[in-house]
Amino acid sequence: MRLPGPLSKARAAVGLARVRWLNQRRPVIVSWAITHRCNLRCVYCDVPERRLPEASPAQALDLIDQMARLGTRAVSFNGGEPLLRKDIVALAERCRSHGMSAALSTNGTFLDGKREVLTHLDRLQISVDGPRKLHEAQRGEGTFDDVLSALSIGRGAGLPMVLSVVLTRHNVGAIDDLVAFADSQGASLSFLPVGPVHAFDVDYDSLRPTPAAMRTALREAARHARTGAPILGSASSFEYLAQWPAAPRIDCFGASGIAKLAADGRVFPCAILEHRTHAISALDHGFEAAWDAIAEDPLDCSGCHCTKTLQLNRVFWDTLSAIPLNRLAAR
Ligand SMILES: C[S@@+](CC[C@H](N)C(=O)[O-])C[C@H]1O[C@@H](n2cnc3c(N)ncnc32)[C@H](O)[C@@H]1O
Ligand code: SF4
Ligand code: SF4
Repeated sequence: MRLPGPLSKARAAVGLARVRWLNQRRPVIVSWAITHRCNLRCVYCDVPERRLPEASPAQALDLIDQMARLGTRAVSFNGGEPLLRKDIVALAERCRSHGMSAALSTNGTFLDGKREVLTHLDRLQISVDGPRKLHEAQRGEGTFDDVLSALSIGRGAGLPMVLSVVLTRHNVGAIDDLVAFADSQGASLSFLPVGPVHAFDVDYDSLRPTPAAMRTALREAARHARTGAPILGSASSFEYLAQWPAAPRIDCFGASGIAKLAADGRVFPCAILEHRTHAISALDHGFEAAWDAIAEDPLDCSGCHCTKTLQLNRVFWDTLSAIPLNRLAAR
């Protein structure tokens, strides 16, 4: 049952509303690092160093069927580089056949050879970190042209596109440039403050902006959001983030309405809480058992800077009437 984009989004919203108001715990949104392999080595990312095993094509299709039975309404493929999976088209297609929405995050380098996947997606997310020089300083020489090419392909397919920006010390001053770039490309913009990474060769301290610079950038983002710039996340959520580095606790869908599925099948409450030792693998135990295993996990986060989850949390838990819902339209 393939549903038009707005209908599948509405189903996801209803699913989250049932989690929130009827206490019906279910993995409505699953973010899936379908592979840890990647052709790039971005300065802030340790994912390719994790070298975890990954689901076979048959196992991956079976996981999608299991998720559908459990009430999953939206799957977001990321990685590693998800376009390195030979079966990515079949996986996105299977999600859509269940009426789920499917999104994919990519560095853009392989989209030209994998255009077919676009016909099975509701949204394409492409990582960009600034104008060419800033982008390539963080993501590698020659990568900006791939971003431009991916944007052009996505536009040609008429797909909603989101540019995902990791804010570091180097590009934190480029908010205005990034907003103008997104606007010129017909894409929305999503800002993600750089998070801690674990690889030995990543020097997180040298990447992290000063708290003052980050607060200024997030207030800039709030200002743009307020004036209708194509930014995902309301002005209110950026104002919350601008308390940086503090993150006052707010209720979260982690482990009750959203889940992170790692390449090796382990299920976590979200992409940030991946250090849990009692997460189990959906490949070994089934998705339901792995989802249930995190039911009692204490969310020992004091709030976080995950902008996408934050926006959902604020809409459903916090300030329903205060959030401009149109900001969710491109999610
Ligand atoms: C891990 S990547 C996977 C998808 C694809 N390879 C890409 O780069 O878009 C997903 C997103 O996480 C972001 N990311 C990677 N490392 C990060 C970090 N240390 N802090 C915040 N975001 C990070 C990437 O820039 C990208 O937008
Ligand atoms: S951010 Fe994406 S493209 Fe960059 S190294 Fe990580 S997985 Fe690869
Ligand atoms: S608040 Fe952030 S870190 Fe905590 S469960 Fe939610 S998304 Fe994860």
